[in-house]
Amino acid sequence: MIASFIEKPADLPLPPIPDTTVNLYRPKNPFPAKVLRKHRITESASPNHCWHVVLSLEGSKMVGKYRIGQSVGVVPEGRFNDAEFNYVHTALTDKIRLYSIASACWGDDWKGETISLCVKREITEDQSTGELVLGAASNFICDARPGDEMLITGPVGKSFLLPDDPLNYNYVFAATGTGIAPYLGMIIELFNQGFEREVWLVFGVPYSTDIMYDGEFRYFANRHPNFHYVTAISREQYNPRGGKMYVQDRLEEHQNALIPLLEKQDTLFYMCGLKGMEYGIYPWLYRIGSNLVNLPDGMTVEDIQQLPRDASEWTKIERSRDRRRFFKETY
Ligand code: A2P
Repeated sequence: MIASFIEKPADLPLPPIPDTTVNLYRPKNPFPAKVLRKHRITESASPNHCWHVVLSLEGSKMVGKYRIGQSVGVVPEGRFNDAEFNYVHTALTDKIRLYSIASACWGDDWKGETISLCVKREITEDQSTGELVLGAASNFICDARPGDEMLITGPVGKSFLLPDDPLNYNYVFAATGTGIAPYLGMIIELFNQGFEREVWLVFGVPYSTDIMYDGEFRYFANRHPNFHYVTAISREQYNPRGGKMYVQDRLEEHQNALIPLLEKQDTLFYMCGLKGMEYGIYPWLYRIGSNLVNLPDGMTVEDIQQLPRDASEWTKIERSRDRRRFFKETY
């Protein structure tokens, strides 16, 4: 379903991108946002249940004020640890859960009166008891029906934004799973403003049934040859070494185009999703000689490739990145 929220109808003006504002609503005074609609964005055959949920901001201070790359908090309410069912919810020590905003700052209505979230139901089993464990906030959001109210806080975050002059840069976006959320809004914002530079989106998911917003991204890729949309389907495709096809393998596959692009000082690199991606992307950046990250003293590229996951050097590498050009949100 390609809706009018990805391409502005000709008769509406394009509102300006707002300045960055944070914490308009705090946990003590959350805003009750009404659920307008939701639709599943993983295919029905997928074992991953992800939903795109659109909330109304009508009557709130957040109208026209949030920026893509920010997050909002959701206060989960409802039925927890219900004795009727053989399941428990994850503990609610800190009641607020943060979710990346998936909609452009203009929302679905081009007035900033809606905000959208991309949420995957967290469903696991307790390894010792075999009990089903449901993520409290993610299931609360995915269960919500149009008309329900949801308490939200924020917006928060200043470090994963597009620059204030977004049309003057090239972009390389890397995502895994629901880490795709901010890139949907970013792509919508860029192309609706007439973006003419280069943008790559490299997106990793387990199965082809999990490619969230595939229709939306293909829509833009078909119209804009400067949008390079690439997927890495880890459990269906293999990298040249016979291992799982991950985002970093696709970056390597396309490095003839990416090396000259990343050498440009006006190319920005964004990474959003699983932390594990970092252990593949940093070594690749070293291998191609990128100065987006610096090698820790005395280490070689070969040393980095041998580093165990818990090595303290990863923190040094992460901190060494060029913060003007390399943005990340991993978990
Ligand atoms: P896999 O789980 O097959 O190992 P989701 O969040 O929906 O599970 O998707 C996350 C995607 O990121 C999956 O395709 C997952 O692959 C992949 N992934 C897992 N670990 C890494 C890693 N270290 N580097 C890059 N991608 C990863």
